[in-house]
Amino acid sequence: MEIHKYEKVWLAGALLLIVGLIATVSYGAVGAGIEMVGDEGGQVDPASLDEHPKFGEPGTYQTGEDEYDVYVIAQQFSFEPGTSEPIRVPADSTVTLHVTSADVIHGFEVVGTNANTMAVPGQVATITIEVDEPGEYGLLCNEYCGSAHHAMEGSLEVVPQSEWNESMVVN
Ligand code: CUA
Repeated sequence: MEIHKYEKVWLAGALLLIVGLIATVSYGAVGAGIEMVGDEGGQVDPASLDEHPKFGEPGTYQTGEDEYDVYVIAQQFSFEPGTSEPIRVPADSTVTLHVTSADVIHGFEVVGTNANTMAVPGQVATITIEVDEPGEYGLLCNEYCGSAHHAMEGSLEVVPQSEWNESMVVN
């Protein structure tokens, strides 16, 4: 069977589009270091977070010399801590964020960084970040969570070591 030259060009073009589509979807799913909220953070009862040893008093806990755990609750339409007062961590430290939701699915994004996760009720998402220079970062909810989703924001403050003090940790 004779295939016309132009027909072959279109066939090749269509094949390239299919390969390109599969390649970009695959990259988006696994290539960019993106993963679903894992179960390594553990599970919690979203209805009784106030009885949880850490989420009951969310905030920054010191776990090692330059290591900190931060427990954050997302709920319509704020982060605790984060919104009414910033999340505070000291400069030059390793910080593991433990994020969960008390109601519906929210997003938790540290603006301008690749720290970004979903906050799912019942599930604890963990992200470990290396914090160096002092500064202030914005927090955003990037999952639609209700009427005031667009206003759900907060801040993360990286405090200079010289200004860091006991009152900034929970325990
Ligand atoms: Cu919380 Cu959108």
